[in-house]
This record gives sequence, structure tokens and C-alpha cells, in this order.
Amino acid sequence: MTQQARDWLAQARRVCVLTGAGISAESGVPTFRGSGGLWREFRAEDLATPGAFERDPKLVWEWYDWRRGVVSAARPNAGHEALAEYERRRPDGFTLVTQNVDGLHERAGSRAVERLHGSLWRVRCTGCGREVEDDRAPLPELPPRCGECGAMLRPGVVWFGEMLPEAALEAAVAAASSCEVMLVVGTSAVVYPAASLAPLARRAGARLIEVNVEETPASGLADVHLRGSAGVALPRILL
Ligand code: OAD
Repeated sequence: MTQQARDWLAQARRVCVLTGAGISAESGVPTFRGSGGLWREFRAEDLATPGAFERDPKLVWEWYDWRRGVVSAARPNAGHEALAEYERRRPDGFTLVTQNVDGLHERAGSRAVERLHGSLWRVRCTGCGREVEDDRAPLPELPPRCGECGAMLRPGVVWFGEMLPEAALEAAVAAASSCEVMLVVGTSAVVYPAASLAPLARRAGARLIEVNVEETPASGLADVHLRGSAGVALPRILL
């Protein structure tokens, strides 16, 4: 199985990778579902919806500020690094689509990253719409305010019920529907539209490789399912 995945990834001219929270688990960043997942401890509707932010912006910001702190103390792991190295060796025809907001792919050196769910490190003004990078953790004031107009800032992430950034979604759909190999790593494959990318690639004729510690709805579609951690499996199949 590992050798088959290695061969496909070495030979394909167009490769699309989809990652989820599981790829950052070995960096110490909690996932959302499964044991130790954030949605076991917290309710998404209290923290990750536009309604939650309207009701209690300070509470929502405290949660994001905590997550920013966790991620800023974390480092990319062998899985992130293997993806960055694979792209360095063959930059053409490679797209990395991520649902993660932690920025660990970018810190590992990945370049062609399409972020479907935004970034923990971007903040957007609820008044004037200005969006900027802010990597301070913790933030000095919660909720933070816009330096231009003084209105409240919101996290630059996609909440449940919101649209995904159009350009990133279009790039992801284009990459998934034209790749020869799709590699799906560390995602429970239940949140749409990201979860539709693997079936889309499969329908378009791509080989599908899944790396996950568990079975997911995508496992049944996969040509190769590598049951194991991303930090161990990715260096083996990519490098
Ligand atoms: P989930 O937390 O739903 O799923 C994490 C997946 O990673 C599970 O399938 C685990 O089995 C797997 N996993 C855990 N540790 C792993 C490891 N070391 N190596 C490989 N796999 C591992 O995370 P996502 O699928 O990313 O959205 O969740 C999708 C979206 O739901 C998130 O982007 C977030 C969340 O609510 C928003 O906030 C909009």
C-alpha cells in the first residue's frame, strides 16, 4: 500500500492534497472531532457562528485568542514538512488545499496553499472591512479594534453558515477535478464543501490516497487507505 502510494505520487504530473485538523494533531493542536476534539468540549454554535459573535464577541474572541496561543507555541511536524519538501522538489502541478486555520503549512514552507476556512492570523474589521495580518498572541485587548475606524475586529476565519472564500474554493475545485492523484490527510471528511473534493477528484478519474488514523466517509472511495499518523505516513509516501 505504501509503495503503491509512493509510486503514484512520484509519477503524477498533477497532485492535489486536502488536509484537515489531523495533520496538526502531532504538533499539539487539538482536532475538532474524535477523542480530545474541540467540539467535545465546546459547542460550535456558541463559538464558531456569526450568531455567537453577535451575542458575545468577547467570549468568541477569548476562544480564538486561546487557539492562537496554542498554535503560536506549536511547530510544524514531519507531515507538514514532508508536504513542503515534496512541493519544493516538484512545484508544478501541485496544490495544497487546507481546511486548517493554524498556518502551520505556511510555516513549514508550503507555498501553493489554498485556505478554505481562512486564517487564525488574519483579522477583519466589522466596520470598514479592512483585513490585516496580526500574529500577536495573546492580543493586547479583547475584542480587538480596527486601527483605521475603531470598529470591532473579527477573526478572519469562516464560521458555520458562512460562504467560503471564492477564489480559494475555485482553485480547490479546479485542482481536485484535474489532478491525477488526490491525497486526503487528517480530515473527518464531514464538513462541506471541503468534503466534496475527494468524491469530485474520484469522479474525474484521479487515484485517491487517504492518510488517517481512523476510517472516514472518504475511506470507501480511496484506492489506498493508509491507516496511521500523518507525521509517520507522509514522509514515507512523499519523500
Ligand atoms: P476533524 O477534527 O473533524 O477531523 C480530524 C481527523 O483527523 C479525524 O478523521 C481523525 O481521525 C484524524 N486524525 C487525528 N490525528 C491524526 C494524525 N495524527 N494523523 C492523521 N489523521 C489524524 O477536523 P477537520 O476534518 O479538519 O471548520 O474538520 C473540518 C472542519 O470542521 C474544520 O475546518 C472546522 C471544523 O469545525 C470550521 O471551523 C468552519
